[in-house]
Amino acid sequence: MVELSASILNLKKENANRKFYDLEVAKIDYFHIDVMDGIFVKSNTEKLMKDYALTVSHISNLGLDVHLMVQDIEEYIEEYLSLNPKIITFHIEASKEEHRTLELIKRIRENGTKVGIAISPDTSLDLIKKYLNLIHMVLVMTVVPGKGGQLLIPETIKKIQSLKKYIDENNIDIDIEADGGINNENSKDVIDAGANILVVGSYLLNSDNYSETVNIIKSSY
Ligand code: DX5
Ligand code: ZN
Repeated sequence: MVELSASILNLKKENANRKFYDLEVAKIDYFHIDVMDGIFVKSNTEKLMKDYALTVSHISNLGLDVHLMVQDIEEYIEEYLSLNPKIITFHIEASKEEHRTLELIKRIRENGTKVGIAISPDTSLDLIKKYLNLIHMVLVMTVVPGKGGQLLIPETIKKIQSLKKYIDENNIDIDIEADGGINNENSKDVIDAGANILVVGSYLLNSDNYSETVNIIKSSY
């Protein structure tokens, strides 16, 4: 089954509550919260995302899929664990050392929250292989992290394929989330490559009919 996680990064503040409701009615599966600290990536979305995450956790039963594009991962994990998200994902390029990465995984898991590790387009899959048995999801960035509305980088589809091949060969039960530039023209390729959770931002939020768009993405295989 393919799930859709709606990135609300570029949602305007004015009618955000109404849009949250519309997205839920359109049967998205998660609200994807893109937390950027202005250090790991240039933009800083921490205030807006905290605001949105708080609101969504109050008004919706859907899970929060928190994507931390931050350097000080520990600080943000504590902040977001209090909202009981479904998934917290941090970047391997930020956690770097094995000891720290293992501590972060443990901290998120002990809260009953799923753990994801995100990997940027230029980072080798080899860096995350040793953690795959300890986590629930790999977030494969299909654009360079930092902003919404970019074009999907075609090579990242091959990366999803290699990851899928590796997890199948090693009997690892893990979700693959693809994030960035996903639309009706590339969703089939992304799903065929092995992703089972698709983050969709601009393509969904700019569409006139959320339900129709969600259906198009979810049935594109
Ligand atoms: C990029 C973010 C993505 C992205 C999704 O740094 O992690 O979640 O904004 O939005 P679109 O679908 O517009 O690329
Ligand atoms: Zn994201």
